[in-house]
Amino acid sequence: MSKTNKEKINRLIIYYFSGTGNARNVTHWIDDIARNNNYESQIIDISKIKNRKDIIVPDNALIGFCSPTHGFNFPPIMFHFLLRFPKSNKNKTFIINTRAGLKAGKYFVPGMSGMAQYFSALILLLKGFKIIGMHPVDLPSNWISFHPGIKPTVVESIYNKRKRETERFALNLINNKSDYKGLRAILVDLLITPIAFLYYIIGRFILAKTFYASKDCSNCGLCIEKCPVQAIKLVDKRPFWTHKCESCMQCMNICPERAIETSHGYSFAIYYFISSYLVLKIYKLLNINPLLDSIFPAWLSNIFNFFIDIGLIVLLYFFFYRIFHYLLRFRFFERIVVYTSLTKWKCWRRYKIEKRY
Ligand SMILES: Cc1cc2nc3c(=O)[nH]c(=O)nc-3n(C[C@H](O)[C@H](O)[C@H](O)COP(=O)(O)O)c2cc1C
Repeated sequence: MSKTNKEKINRLIIYYFSGTGNARNVTHWIDDIARNNNYESQIIDISKIKNRKDIIVPDNALIGFCSPTHGFNFPPIMFHFLLRFPKSNKNKTFIINTRAGLKAGKYFVPGMSGMAQYFSALILLLKGFKIIGMHPVDLPSNWISFHPGIKPTVVESIYNKRKRETERFALNLINNKSDYKGLRAILVDLLITPIAFLYYIIGRFILAKTFYASKDCSNCGLCIEKCPVQAIKLVDKRPFWTHKCESCMQCMNICPERAIETSHGYSFAIYYFISSYLVLKIYKLLNINPLLDSIFPAWLSNIFNFFIDIGLIVLLYFFFYRIFHYLLRFRFFERIVVYTSLTKWKCWRRYKIEKRY
């Protein structure tokens, strides 16, 4: 899947976002390869960019973008960054998304990109860039709200394999060859793309609202200070996750007291209460169904129903998070929430990755 381009470039700038270090490590591997091949190379963490003027696109440079995949898309911080990225005069560019790599026995299981690569590619094409590389990197999954952190030995073996692949990709680009491995699963990716749109809302207004700090929190402020999108603030002397949270998992993994948890028990209970009781009550009270049926044909009424359902669930869930946060001050409530959080269990590892570059 590679072909040779004519022009020679010798400057590289990679813009990256990383929650738990995978994407950061990938940028460093590419940076190393570039430097070893006499490139002038620079890597920039987009969460540290304060001023738009700091975003530079020199004419002769190869520009790279690297970010984790969240909900089959790039997380909003990277997506918004791409949208406001300056236009280019035919700069060559590449896109890397790190994904949830797992290992079953001796088999390496890849993650799923969804629209992460294609949507960014479209934005960059419209801005005048020439895309010469699209590459997913399946590094250990950091989504520890969903599954326990991966064992260190498995992390090691996934890392070794993916580092070699990424270096080959980087060498291709440095040697002026295009590389589009990111397009291999295009059919599956397009099929799951609608989920990415839903996740954009659900991620922010539901998943982010499953985090809380248990009584083990020492109020050290590290989660607030390190949050790459400034989504955590102190409310009633306890960390509170605002809608800006992108569920990047950094806070949960760096907390020195291991006090940040995902509230599985509470979240399921409240979700069940909202969707199977409260929403129905609201429907009845406002007479929504007969109203929709009287205005629209049945199929359109069903579609509206679907979106009103989602809207109401998201809104109510968001509202209940504030109450949840208040109730956590009561020891009895806090203990029930803690003991029904899977992340509290000893076997539920965190995801820690060293800076290995
Ligand atoms: C909220 C969330 C959503 C995720 N969604 C996906 C996904 O749709 N597809 C995938 O392959 N991996 C997904 N992952 C896994 C991460 O993309 C993956 O672990 C990535 O390497 C993390 O990079 P980072 O350490 O730089 O943050 C998700 C992780 C999180 C926390």
